[in-house]
Amino acid sequence: MSSPIIAIVTGANRGIGHAICQTLAADFKEPLLLYAASRKGEDLGFKPSSTKTQIEYPSLDIASTNSINELAKSIQRDHDGLDVLINNAGAALDDQHSPENVKTTLDINYRGTLKVSESESQDSTTVLTNELFYRCVKLSYHF
Ligand SMILES: NC(=O)c1ccc[n+]([C@@H]2O[C@H](COP(=O)([O-])OP(=O)(O)OC[C@H]3O[C@@H](n4cnc5c(N)ncnc54)[C@H](OP(=O)(O)O)[C@@H]3O)[C@@H](O)[C@H]2O)c1
Repeated sequence: MSSPIIAIVTGANRGIGHAICQTLAADFKEPLLLYAASRKGEDLGFKPSSTKTQIEYPSLDIASTNSINELAKSIQRDHDGLDVLINNAGAALDDQHSPENVKTTLDINYRGTLKVSESESQDSTTVLTNELFYRCVKLSYHF
């Protein structure tokens, strides 16, 4: 079997990230090692439809530099590098306007996502948002 595509989905435990992982587990045709990352690092029970798909459930808090670095180190240690990063995790605090919430939103959604992208990806890594991922699916583009 050829080497699997190594992919991370952040915020995999609910919402759009959960749907992306379900889609990849059910439909992806090539060998795939999917890191379905969540803050708790819990087993989310995705059911791969193929033996070519393997799923791991690491912990990743994109607001924590330590957490980002730990996952990046473990992926660098175990693999040549990451092929696909789907930056999905994010906080929506729009209904509670306050300077503190603006800062928290920027820290997580902008600075956290940037740090994950810088730590996890190399020149050859495809970095997608969840919206871009769905455009790829619509175009039947397999990374
Ligand atoms: N739904 C929309 O219409 C829409 C529109 C524009 C953009 N977006 C963006 O698309 C993404 C997903 O949307 P959604 O509707 O699926 O949102 P959601 O249901 O609120 O899910 C957000 C996901 O992000 C995770 N998350 C939040 N803070 C995190 C952190 N510090 N570290 C790691 N994970 C964290 C959450 O984990 P926990 O369960 O641990 O909190 C959850 O898995 C978000 O980034 C959102 O801002 C969504």
